[in-house]
Amino acid sequence: MIFDTHAHYDEKAFDPDREELLASLPGRGVGCIVNVGASPQGARASVAFARKYDHMYAAVGIHPDDVEALDDALLEELRVMAGQPKTVAIGEIGLDYYWDVQPHEVQKEAFIRQLELAKDVDLPINVHSRDAARDTFDIIRDHHAGTTGGIIHCFSGSVEMAREYVKRGYYIGVGGVVTFKNGKTLKNVVREVPLERIVTETDCPYLAPVPFRGKRNDSGMIRYVIDEIAALKDIPVEEAEEVLYANAMRVYRLG
Ligand code: NI
Repeated sequence: MIFDTHAHYDEKAFDPDREELLASLPGRGVGCIVNVGASPQGARASVAFARKYDHMYAAVGIHPDDVEALDDALLEELRVMAGQPKTVAIGEIGLDYYWDVQPHEVQKEAFIRQLELAKDVDLPINVHSRDAARDTFDIIRDHHAGTTGGIIHCFSGSVEMAREYVKRGYYIGVGGVVTFKNGKTLKNVVREVPLERIVTETDCPYLAPVPFRGKRNDSGMIRYVIDEIAALKDIPVEEAEEVLYANAMRVYRLG
């Protein structure tokens, strides 16, 4: 079965057929989806999906691009949403120096506040990091390592960085990029990191795997990601699928 550890079904791209699509995914081998909130509305939508669908769970958090919204009242609302029975993580949280929408100091402060929240409510984290590998790692090492664990989503760092995270108990989120021709670094990360520390994700509607690159992504397409991971590990697809599913269940403390 497929576990999508990071999806955004609240995005506009799913407006035309969201309900039919979500209802159809179990029939395409999808066992479990965590919808990840990036904005206040995204976090609320994630909790609503988890209420409505047996196979969906929620992560709540504010993405670095949106952290100017993170005042005391919103932090309190996140805390309440984190207490819902099907909320399994705080995310997506982190740093984005690529789009650089918010000043770095503002991003860092919001990241740290949400890491503290994760520890308070005892939930793992789901981390976004773009062009900010060093600062992301340093903040996690100083403010979170050794506590509730979590996933470094859409991992784009080096093999060495992946090893440092794994050493500290984190999981490496792998999605469509691993099927891209220019996904060499991620392919190497998958080869070098123990399979037991990798989880699958879409980040849908973005980052559809080959042969659907550029199209709208959905959790069923993780099939192609699993195929690529199995090939890189030189193991049967069924074995990769089983281990990857169990990893996601473990990091999100399900089952
Ligand atoms: Ni995302």
